[in-house]
Amino acid sequence: MHTRPLGKTGPQVSALGLGCMGMSALYGSADRTEAIATIHAALDAGVTLLDTGDFYGMGHNELLIGEALRTAPAALREQALTSVKFGALRDPDGGWGPTDGRPAAVRNFAAYSLQRLGVDHIDVYRISRADPNVPIEETVGAIAELVEKGHVRHIGLSEVGADAIRRAAATAPISDLQIEYSLISRAVEDQILPTTRELGISVTAYGVLARGLISGHFTADRQLSADDFRAHSPRFQGDNLRHNLSLVDALREIAERKGVTVAQIAVAWVLSRGEDIVPLVGARTRERLSESLGALDVTLDADDLAAIERAVPPGAAAGARYPEPMMAHLGTKE
Ligand SMILES: NC(=O)c1ccc[n+]([C@@H]2O[C@H](COP(=O)([O-])OP(=O)(O)OC[C@H]3O[C@@H](n4cnc5c(N)ncnc54)[C@H](OP(=O)(O)O)[C@@H]3O)[C@@H](O)[C@H]2O)c1
Repeated sequence: MHTRPLGKTGPQVSALGLGCMGMSALYGSADRTEAIATIHAALDAGVTLLDTGDFYGMGHNELLIGEALRTAPAALREQALTSVKFGALRDPDGGWGPTDGRPAAVRNFAAYSLQRLGVDHIDVYRISRADPNVPIEETVGAIAELVEKGHVRHIGLSEVGADAIRRAAATAPISDLQIEYSLISRAVEDQILPTTRELGISVTAYGVLARGLISGHFTADRQLSADDFRAHSPRFQGDNLRHNLSLVDALREIAERKGVTVAQIAVAWVLSRGEDIVPLVGARTRERLSESLGALDVTLDADDLAAIERAVPPGAAAGARYPEPMMAHLGTKE
């Protein structure tokens, strides 16, 4: 497995990370046994970075990862690096509240995450969205104290803009920013990437398959449950969906010419953006994982990249990447 550095100060990680969210929440039901087998298969293939959030299924995702780590061979368990998001408040009905980035809350969230994961430290810890009522310096400062005490190794960020990145980096060393980046979500290229690159911060890119939309497996007639994020995402609705799937058809032609899959083109394109970008793939079955890992062997030359750019130019997607009320809390306005 190729590796990439997580910023100037973070660890060396596998070039692809595994995002475990969909194994617990947001994309409809998932099979627990297959999810654990997928984490084991990923570790076995050399994936070291496992991404989660304490709010994915209200602790479910961390307990799942904890079980996968406990039942993995020791050598694989030792190579695993946990990347954990906190801050999103939930309620017993699954509802979402505001974000809590107060230092006392940070310590509380971390204490529970360490228990659920069954680890003695978290490798990268980050707030999922900046708390508008708490200066980012205070939240990052609280994580820095956890680093000093050995409970956390590195500090990350998630979905914040250039100004917050600078303020956070002035407070403590930041390894990576987690933010959406894919062929159809390229807003990070304007201000965010120049800022992270100037400061020596890497990007762990999520949604590289646009939550399955550009995976080549999504179809217009797919039924989504009410608790599936995509049932409410503008990109998955009506005319927007039809338009976005026409982009996938254009990508499919390129994929077929190269003898690879659409998902592999999409993941390989994000990998091609630079050594400072680590895509997180949201595979929750061994079959999807294997397809995504295949992207590591796909080389995109200048002609391929130009063809991809023609098929899916910047800004080609119809619909915003989140429902309107959630856009205000993101690092980019698109
Ligand atoms: N910081 C943040 O704000 C934030 C937000 C969202 C996610 N994340 C993190 O990023 C991770 C990845 O995000 P994501 O899950 O939205 O990303 P994604 O990889 O774009 O989407 C995953 C979806 O794509 C489908 N898919 C189809 N072919 C696939 C393949 N070959 N490999 C993987 N998935 C395939 C899966 O569907 P099926 O399983 O139905 O086939 C799954 O529903 C999450 O797990 C989470 O850890 C972070």
